[in-house]
Amino acid sequence: MINPPEPLRTRLTDLLGCDYPIIQSGMGGPGRSELCAAVTAAGAFGCIGMVRERPELIRREIAAVKDRTNRAFGVNLVPSATDPALLDEELDACFSAQIEVMVFFCDVRPDIVERAHKAGCKVLYQVGNLADAIAAERAGADAIICQGVEAGGHVHGKVTSMVLLPQVAAAVTIPVAGAGGFGSGASLVAALALGAEGIHCGTAFLATKESYAHDYHKQRVVDAGSEDTVYSDVFAIGWPPQSPVRTIENSIHQALCRRPARTWAG
Ligand SMILES: Cc1cc2nc3c(=O)[nH]c(=O)nc-3n(C[C@H](O)[C@H](O)[C@H](O)COP(=O)(O)O)c2cc1C
Repeated sequence: MINPPEPLRTRLTDLLGCDYPIIQSGMGGPGRSELCAAVTAAGAFGCIGMVRERPELIRREIAAVKDRTNRAFGVNLVPSATDPALLDEELDACFSAQIEVMVFFCDVRPDIVERAHKAGCKVLYQVGNLADAIAAERAGADAIICQGVEAGGHVHGKVTSMVLLPQVAAAVTIPVAGAGGFGSGASLVAALALGAEGIHCGTAFLATKESYAHDYHKQRVVDAGSEDTVYSDVFAIGWPPQSPVRTIENSIHQALCRRPARTWAG
């Protein structure tokens, strides 16, 4: 049996109560209780992705993680991509289950941060630009997740992690985690060097046994190279207009994309 590595302590691990400054993104779809519980058991910080899910499912998924671990974990919601009435129900489901940490993404909503704090939750806010990082800190967030344009899934900014992360880390006083292209020990070290206190990873967890992604999706991820992603707004359904998303190119993208596929932000 391999001994687990020594814990790596930063302000982020102190805030989240985990051993390693690695946060698993609550990816809507793939990030369910199995993945969250496995990540949490391994000493990183797990999260379930519940964007636009019904409160019954949220309650079930939270209970399923709590059955497997006593450690803290998070729930991810995306306020600007959710009908307000459903968002209210989602938040109530999380708060009544006494979830420790809420992870929000996209436009900063001070009212939602306040509600989460009143319910006793810590708040991580994933943002894609400097102004939103400052706004999230002002709104009372406990930590920032700084998303570079390399990120998989919906992408909120236009700047690379290499450029954005040091700007955000210098501009706020709360801990910052880098997101977008981080998925290895070396990249964790790089993020720390850029001023972050941890990383937030999505793609790195997508093709794991515990991920709820379809096997075909997992295989496409495993087979893909770093030049195989496309950045477009063809999957903006349910999101604010023109919300860009980074995916592996597929037949839906080819059919819907009326302009040449772009592999970068330009
Ligand atoms: C399949 C997939 C689904 C995602 N779904 C969400 C989501 O529901 N909520 C969210 O805040 N971020 C979501 N993201 C974005 C991640 O939070 C994160 O920014 C991104 O994965 C970081 O880049 P990486 O994929 O290079 O690790 C998703 C990412 C992926 C790959």
